[in-house]
Amino acid sequence: MADWYYDDLRQVGLDFENAAAVATYDRNQGTDAAADRALLEQLGVGADDVVIDVGCGTGAFAIEAARHCRIVYAVDVSASMLAHARERAARQALRNIEFRHGGFLSYRHDGPPADAIVTKYAFHHLPDFWKGVALVRMNEMLRTAGRLFISDVVISFPPAEHRREIEAWIARMARPSGDGFTVADFATHVRDEYSTYDWIIVGLLERTGFRIDRKMRWDAAYTDYLCSKNAECSAI
Ligand SMILES: C[S@@+](CC[C@H](N)C(=O)[O-])C[C@H]1O[C@@H](n2cnc3c(N)ncnc32)[C@H](O)[C@@H]1O
Repeated sequence: MADWYYDDLRQVGLDFENAAAVATYDRNQGTDAAADRALLEQLGVGADDVVIDVGCGTGAFAIEAARHCRIVYAVDVSASMLAHARERAARQALRNIEFRHGGFLSYRHDGPPADAIVTKYAFHHLPDFWKGVALVRMNEMLRTAGRLFISDVVISFPPAEHRREIEAWIARMARPSGDGFTVADFATHVRDEYSTYDWIIVGLLERTGFRIDRKMRWDAAYTDYLCSKNAECSAI
């Protein structure tokens, strides 16, 4: 690997290698199997399909996907998250999930081309330049017309409104310690992680061989993108 290549195996911002962060993650984030099933339906995932979940965390989506498709590749840079997700899948006797230690920039997909790639609340761990590289790599992993779903903290307020909007977002979302992500967690996200503007994500998707089929803007801080691969985008 060239010495300029980004090391995406190290944790940025919140440390998801930390055992306490893993143990409390589902309580803080909330999991919703019904929403995951609805997403799988939206993606058109069927029994023969190959799904990749990048930044799989505790494995909630990957496990739900495994019930509906041929094989899931559950990828994460955190060995602790992967261990937790692996145990959870084993408890449910699911054998069609391959757990892989790697990230957007380091995971090497050696399975069949994916019918769908899902990444929820993980893409913001990369700086914008590297988001572009990650999209090229995900394009290469997908079959023609395969689907990409990105859900994340995405900014859709004007830059000049950042102070008011960020304060309002934290006030809206933060919970007391033990009840969810705290003010300090959200501050870490804004300060140390790389959530970016919607127009940057849209521009990157359009330049890396994706068509945005549906954009769901939940509020000024959250947007989902449902996309299809419409052109090859090889990194050569
Ligand atoms: C906020 S959690 C999201 C977990 C899960 N996708 C969910 O929606 O609950 C972010 C996850 O992304 C992982 N992560 C961080 N940087 C990453 C990278 N460069 N590539 C892949 N995963 C990464 C973290 O280890 C963590 O498990």
